[in-house]
Amino acid sequence: MRFTLLATLVGLAVGAFAQSSSADAYVAFESPIAKVGVLANIGPSGSKSQGAKASASNSAGIVVASPSTSNPNYLYTWTRDTSLVFKALIDQFTSGEDTTLRGLIDSFTSSQAILQQVSNPSGTVSTGGLGEPKFNIDETAFTDAWGRPQRDGPALRSTAIISYANWLLDNSNTTYVTQTLWPIIKLDLDYVANNWNQSTFDLWEEVNSSSFFTTAVQHRALREGATFATRIGQTSVVAGYTTQADNLLCFLQSYWNPIAGYITANTGGGRSGKDANTVLTSIHTFDPAAGCDAATFQPCSDKALSNLKVYVDSFRSIYTINSGIAANAAVATGRYPEDSYQGGNPWYLTTLSVAEQLYDALIVWDTLGSINVTATSLSFFQQFSSGIAAGTFPSTSATYTTLTSAIKDFADGFVAMNAQYTPSNGGLSEQYSRSTGAPVSAVDLTWSYAATLTAFHARSGKTYAGWGAAGLTVPAVCSTSGSGTGSGGATVAVTFNVQATTVFGENIYLTGSVDALENWSPDNALLLSAANYPVWSITVNLPASTSVEYKYIRKNNGAVTWESDPNNSITTPASGSATETDTWR
Ligand SMILES: *[C@@H]1O[C@H](CO)[C@@H](O)[C@H](O)[C@H]1NC(C)=O
Ligand SMILES: *[C@@H]1O[C@H](CO)[C@@H](O)[C@H](O)[C@H]1NC(C)=O
Ligand SMILES: *[C@@H]1O[C@H](CO)[C@@H](O)[C@H](O)[C@H]1NC(C)=O
Ligand SMILES: *[C@@H]1O[C@H](CO)[C@@H](O)[C@H](O)[C@H]1NC(C)=O
Ligand SMILES: *[C@@H]1O[C@H](CO)[C@@H](O)[C@H](O)[C@H]1NC(C)=O
Repeated sequence: MRFTLLATLVGLAVGAFAQSSSADAYVAFESPIAKVGVLANIGPSGSKSQGAKASASNSAGIVVASPSTSNPNYLYTWTRDTSLVFKALIDQFTSGEDTTLRGLIDSFTSSQAILQQVSNPSGTVSTGGLGEPKFNIDETAFTDAWGRPQRDGPALRSTAIISYANWLLDNSNTTYVTQTLWPIIKLDLDYVANNWNQSTFDLWEEVNSSSFFTTAVQHRALREGATFATRIGQTSVVAGYTTQADNLLCFLQSYWNPIAGYITANTGGGRSGKDANTVLTSIHTFDPAAGCDAATFQPCSDKALSNLKVYVDSFRSIYTINSGIAANAAVATGRYPEDSYQGGNPWYLTTLSVAEQLYDALIVWDTLGSINVTATSLSFFQQFSSGIAAGTFPSTSATYTTLTSAIKDFADGFVAMNAQYTPSNGGLSEQYSRSTGAPVSAVDLTWSYAATLTAFHARSGKTYAGWGAAGLTVPAVCSTSGSGTGSGGATVAVTFNVQATTVFGENIYLTGSVDALENWSPDNALLLSAANYPVWSITVNLPASTSVEYKYIRKNNGAVTWESDPNNSITTPASGSATETDTWR
């Protein structure tokens, strides 16, 4: 039984109406289901989270990707999915749409502070562990083989937390932001600033290279991170984040393929590069103040529109359920045309991402009062007006009306496509069959529900705070200077163990005389793990054959206590590793 039947029961014969009618009906029907679907997968009390079963005490705020435990087993928590889901919830909270979410958002930030410190196969908090893509839902490391690292996670997480922190600042809660949220945000932003120029697995966890989505969300994170750090007076990081944001913006341009008119999703992988990666980028780096800027591939930019057409068209002939659909009408879309995972079917969230990009574009055209058709976007616009030529069409022109009304219908068509293949209970799995439209793969995918909510919001004309994408200048020459661990000299891993008893709420940190030890900064000192309390530990990569001074410090609710003099010292070996065993003085 499909949504069409339900729609019929409520008196709408889908198909006999324009696409917007069935999209309207689906929005009304699916909105509450999608909201409940998101919340059900968040621990510990979400009805499908199973967090209570797995670990009653510590899974609050953990987003389960899906309750499915076999074929596929998604009973894990991914940093990417979690951050995208919470960004959507935080936007609902800060805009006043749902004021009940604050406790849940606080449990999200707390759980992320814990996960940041969990040593895992990618490293410790200071040696690359922040790039670990997924964890067990009881907040322990997932240790099986996997496509790691995935360097979009820390960027997306800092974007979500910054959007909440800005609201707290607007509401005079500065202490919580500077003492509790800033340390979490800073770890992620430092990781991005230091590691963006190293290879990563893409958001689909398959290709190890550089990836457009990852580069774009890293750019966004550092750009808004610099503004946020300025706002709370943490000015020492601003120049570094801004330099790397400029480097990222420069690198971002290199994914554009001017001859074929689309964005190549990954630098590796041996595929066409046509990929929902690029459409998801446009909607997750949308800044309503940035107009149709192509440097950041805004939803209404000529490059993003040209790319959208190429992406959508790549699914027209490969899915049976798309056969017979007109060449300029909506179709079901998947991750990328070469996909074979779980049958390589259309996904609910990718099909909706097309609609969301178009709704975002319509919002901006309306604000700007015109549409620009360029040589780059001409083929996109010709789908809606075959005789159109490049030019500017003000909102008072007939062409503007023709284009925007056709594009709204086109966007609604993607919503209607999902509606057609949503089962009668409104449950959204990951995929729907390319041959029959029946739901396939993981049931109740949290990201499918969150993508539904964000697309519907855009359809209703809602926008949220931007991130500083307006008016950026792309550097003339791309640089990687100062981007950290990828380009430096030889390092050795040094483990610091210090025996220190602490009172509840107190933690032990390390700082010292080199960059890797944050140059004697108590604010930026590295947090040690208490996993073997009363021994606190951390492993840090230090420059080889170098004499380094350091001290441990205690922090309790903002109060800092230094170890007594003299400074501790170590001369690092030329290669290999070393261990320092200390007792707090
Ligand atoms: C600041 O926000 C945090 C997080 O919601 C909350 O726990 C704390 O009580 C707030 N403090 C004040 C003074 O409102
Ligand atoms: C590092 O940045 C340079 C300059 O933008 C770029 O050419 C190179 O592909 C990047 N490498 C990775 C792995 O991101
Ligand atoms: C990913 O690619 C980089 C650069 O080619 C390589 O150093 C690294 O070992 C690769 N990782 C995996 C897991 O294959
Ligand atoms: C169209 O181009 C003009 C001139 O470059 C610019 O001022 C305007 O903002 C653009 N409008 C849109 C919708 O892109
Ligand atoms: C420890 O190092 C700091 C930073 O170089 C220096 O200011 C301080 O004097 C040193 N302490 C001692 C006792 O040498």
